[in-house]
Amino acid sequence: MQKPAAHQGVTGELAALLSQIALVGKLIAQDLRRAGLIDILGTTGEINVQGETVKKLDEIANETFLKVFHQNGLACALASEEMEKPVLLPENWPRAKYMLLFDPLDGSSNTDCNMPLGAIFSVVTSGHSDRMPTKDDLVRKGTEQVAAGYLLYGSSTMLIYTTGQGVHGFTLDPGIGEYVLSHEQIRVPTRGKVYGVNEGNYHKWSGGTRKYVDYLKVNDTATGRPYSSRYSGCLAADVHRILLGGGIYLYPGEIEKPEGKLRLLYEANPLAMVVEQAGGRASTGAMRILDVEAKQLHQRVPLIIGSAEDVRDAEEFMQGRRM
Ligand code: AHG
Ligand code: MN
Ligand code: MN
Repeated sequence: MQKPAAHQGVTGELAALLSQIALVGKLIAQDLRRAGLIDILGTTGEINVQGETVKKLDEIANETFLKVFHQNGLACALASEEMEKPVLLPENWPRAKYMLLFDPLDGSSNTDCNMPLGAIFSVVTSGHSDRMPTKDDLVRKGTEQVAAGYLLYGSSTMLIYTTGQGVHGFTLDPGIGEYVLSHEQIRVPTRGKVYGVNEGNYHKWSGGTRKYVDYLKVNDTATGRPYSSRYSGCLAADVHRILLGGGIYLYPGEIEKPEGKLRLLYEANPLAMVVEQAGGRASTGAMRILDVEAKQLHQRVPLIIGSAEDVRDAEEFMQGRRM
């Protein structure tokens, strides 16, 4: 409350919505802390709409978002990476004008080995004052987001968000059960020394992507290479490292899967808004993420994100302007 920059432009319902996401973070963090002690590790035996195996914790995290937002009346629609169809909440409309899109548990492959996890969220307004939004109204361009951010369950639990007035980070103080503003006005360095990518996919990439990653590994102290490789398998954690210290994260398209893996509405758009608000850059390799036309709820998109100069270098290689 004493740091106006951290809540500039965040009033009323939007502030309430963000604090409810913070509550979701407390609830999920509590489950994760004792995940190995109670029977919540492993898979449910189901396959989700993304064609991926559902972890018990994916389901628990999704249910937590749904429960909190069913009860608080702050959103009129919810869409999740884990649900084929969105949940529309006509009982909250027209009082609630916001719609929430989320990846309830990011980095699910980390659940069973005590590695970092996260959640990623995006907030848009319903867009029509005369009618309840439909499923299609959730499918919006990244530039239309009014707020975005992520929860990170690492050695501490953090909430990072932007409402278009810079990026702020809060750390959960477990002693008092409250979030404390620990990172005010985060700025991503214009260039870093770290790259994060699943290099096991190297031979699936196009030539430009391979050349760029090869370039990062060349020993050339004058230009600060080689870069260090850091990859946790949790997008929120990997992007968080880059947000604070600079560098680049890539989940590029592949020759046989040009759309890549990550989801535009639940992962790429919200992280792109955060990183741009911190002075960084987010691209598909060919264009700005936030300008990508959203056509479907579960649409995938390549993601190249981080320090502005590093992302520009990657774009040059990927577009064949540099060899
Ligand atoms: P999710 O757990 O929500 O499905 O997301 C996993 C994502 C992302 O967190 C991570 O960067 C990437 O997938 C890891 O994929 P690979 O295992 O292919 O590297
Ligand atoms: Mn994810
Ligand atoms: Mn997920």
